[in-house]
Amino acid sequence: MSSEKIKLRALTKDDAKVSWPWRNTDAIRYFYSGHPFFINLEKEEAWIEKIAVSDLPLTSFGIEEMQSNSLIGMSFLKDINLIHRTAEFAIFIGDDNAKGKGYAKEATLKTITFAFNNLNLHRVFLKVQEDNHSAIKLYEKCHFKKEGTLRECVYKNGHYVNEVIMAILKNEFLLLS
Ligand SMILES: CC(C)(COP(=O)(O)OP(=O)(O)OC[C@H]1O[C@@H](n2cnc3c(N)ncnc32)[C@H](O)[C@@H]1OP(=O)(O)O)[C@@H](O)C(=O)NCCC(=O)NCCS
Repeated sequence: MSSEKIKLRALTKDDAKVSWPWRNTDAIRYFYSGHPFFINLEKEEAWIEKIAVSDLPLTSFGIEEMQSNSLIGMSFLKDINLIHRTAEFAIFIGDDNAKGKGYAKEATLKTITFAFNNLNLHRVFLKVQEDNHSAIKLYEKCHFKKEGTLRECVYKNGHYVNEVIMAILKNEFLLLS
């Protein structure tokens, strides 16, 4: 029997109905959002409509729980560069009931497998706030290595926060399998 619990799939405009409330939760606003603004259904639909038809330089994935066929989060490969063969990874689990079940780890591994084995990328990196302990643990479990600190890089809730750069190279990833 397969141990897979989630699958990656393309996003659709209808997913916005599920995902826009996630965008306004404290966890996503503090740890994930690159801007401070609240999101309504119209903004989420416009954003999904734009990215859902993009392959390069941004590929987005809906993370779907296989048991319920429900969208529980999203993962991304951003700024895919086919000269340097690099991309920036990002993920969130929006459905609180789907957190802590290993779904983010499976989705991260599936997304970087796609990056290395389908896009033939060489390096996948990410930026994570230094105080995002769950995400750093997740990335360490997926064999990303810490490479450095971007000091006082983002302004959140009245103070500057450091970000950590983490990355995994294709040869390190291949050694795991
Ligand atoms: C970060 C996030 C994706 C993690 O999701 P999750 O559902 O907790 O992750 P998983 O259940 O797949 O856990 C992944 C691994 O990290 C470990 N882990 C997660 N949180 C942990 C914590 N606080 N302490 C120790 N280990 C932790 C788990 O034990 C698991 O390892 P294991 O499978 O070997 O046991 C989720 O909390 C989220 O979406 N947060 C808001 C948005 C965000 O921060 N995105 C990342 C921005 S860089």
